[in-house]
Amino acid sequence: MTARPIVLAPDPVLKAKAKPVDRVDDGVRALMNDMLESMYASQGVGLAANQIGILQRVLVMDVAPKDEAPQPMKMANPEIIAKSEETAVNQEGCLSLPDFYADIERPARVTVRYLDENNEQKTLDADGWLAVCVQHEIDHLDGVLFVDHLSALKRGMILRKMQKLKRSQQD
Ligand code: NI
Repeated sequence: MTARPIVLAPDPVLKAKAKPVDRVDDGVRALMNDMLESMYASQGVGLAANQIGILQRVLVMDVAPKDEAPQPMKMANPEIIAKSEETAVNQEGCLSLPDFYADIERPARVTVRYLDENNEQKTLDADGWLAVCVQHEIDHLDGVLFVDHLSALKRGMILRKMQKLKRSQQD
C-alpha cells in the first residue's frame, strides 16, 4: 500500500464527476488500499478517489471511534437509493480543505447500494456520522465539496484562503 498526496481545493479534479468502474478487479482493490493508507496517514474518516487525483467512483471510510479497532469500508459505484425526509446538521471538514469546518444539513439516514472489494453488490443503511460521511464522499465523486452547500459568500471566503495557502506552499 502507498499513501498518495491529497489534492487540495481549489482544483479541477475536485470539481469533476468520477466515472463508474466496470468491475472491482485487482487494480480497483489496490486503489482502495492506497486510498485507505492515504486517509489514515492524514487522520481522515473518509476519502474519495478524486482527492488523490483519480476520477473513478471509489471511496473509503472508517468512522470507528479513535480508541476502537479500525473498521475500514471500501465502496465502488456507490449510489444513494433512499434517503430520509428528516435532516440533520453536522459539522463537516475535508482533507482537501484542511482546517475549515462548517455546519451542513443533509438527510439524517440514507440507503446506499455499492460494489464491495469482492465485486459483490451490497446495501448499506446508514445513520448518524456514517450517513454524513458516505454522503460527503459520494458528493466528492460528483465533483461537489462540502463548501458547495454553503452560501456563495462563505464558499468564496474559504476558497480564497485555500488559494493563498496553496500559493504559500508552492513558494
Ligand atoms: Ni471531503
